[in-house]
Amino acid sequence: MKFAFFDAKPYDKPSFDKFGGEMGVKFKYFETKLNEDTVDLAQGYDGVSVFVNDTVNAAVIDRLYELGVKVVALRCAGFNNVDMKHAYGKIHVLRVPAYSPYAVAEHTMALLLTSIRRIHKAYIRTRDFNFSLAGMTGFDLHGKTVGVIGTGRIGRVFIDICRGFGMKVLAYDKYDAPGLDNGDTVRYVTLDELFAGSDIISLHCPLTEDTYHVIDEVALEKCKRGVVILNTSRGALVDAEALLMGIKSRKVGAACLDVYEEESDLFFEDFSGHILEDDTLARLISMPNVIVTSHQAFLTEEALSNIAETTVNNIVTFFNTNQCENELCYRMGGAEDCKNGKCF
Ligand code: NAI
Repeated sequence: MKFAFFDAKPYDKPSFDKFGGEMGVKFKYFETKLNEDTVDLAQGYDGVSVFVNDTVNAAVIDRLYELGVKVVALRCAGFNNVDMKHAYGKIHVLRVPAYSPYAVAEHTMALLLTSIRRIHKAYIRTRDFNFSLAGMTGFDLHGKTVGVIGTGRIGRVFIDICRGFGMKVLAYDKYDAPGLDNGDTVRYVTLDELFAGSDIISLHCPLTEDTYHVIDEVALEKCKRGVVILNTSRGALVDAEALLMGIKSRKVGAACLDVYEEESDLFFEDFSGHILEDDTLARLISMPNVIVTSHQAFLTEEALSNIAETTVNNIVTFFNTNQCENELCYRMGGAEDCKNGKCF
């Protein structure tokens, strides 16, 4: 099997070469992202492998179909960048449903601690032999309330970590996780109750029509003054303009963002020395109480290895049996995994 691998980074290659080599899948690495302009690079390949910021819209799907490409193998869990309705009947979409919920949940806590204990400031100060503590006062997490939106794999690991810090949890999900609500330290509540009661809000739900801009001006209005917003899920869960306004008005005490709505042309690339055109992102980054990482929450050795192994397994299983449990199916209740195998 030959696969065109888009948005390839140096850290992808060792694990994909290892598992691909072992299981007979050959990857041709392209640094460019998949989109309407680059889709013809897929000519002659059995499938394409893509990541979070590749574009798999209707035009790209139609061209892949014309080229005889049978499979889109996502190297991620989220699939908001794929037009699943349009893919149905044309191309099979496989994904990696989970690679390390710990990687993302631990990064979320790392961002939170960095922010509220001013570690990012201390690192720079002490390198300059500035040992002053002025402006470094943080706050205890113990006893604080964290609102967790999305209690799936990552959300639940994050809740465990927060419980270890002695925090109370207000949870919200479209479908409650059985056994999570203990009626005391972890409680499912409505979104409005979560907004009103949380000192910190962390987003761990997918980006869908329901969750688009779940943190917007109206939501922030309902939050406590000084709320800390954590987003390690998808950029468009947060209205970045509203967040910026919230920071300027001091309603938002701090924000930690691993994702950004307009990240696709920026994140994962080096733009140092360039003038950043995105005023909202530039202004957010300029704030002392905003920390931005460029979609790196997944980036651990364990996750990279799991991503490669699952992607290669998905491909081999699909081509050998014409079905794969990690195939996404638009028909199966709104782009859920197709447990029945053959989707079309
Ligand atoms: P998951 O599928 O295990 O959990 C997602 C949860 O969100 C489910 O419990 C689901 O019921 C819930 N949900 C769905 N619609 C909702 C709604 N309208 N309101 C509230 N909750 C809703 O997914 P997992 O593995 O926990 O990943 C969560 C998200 O993390 C992914 O969708 C992805 O966007 C993001 N992610 C980010 C990474 C990064 O590097 N920053 C890496 C991997 C995932």
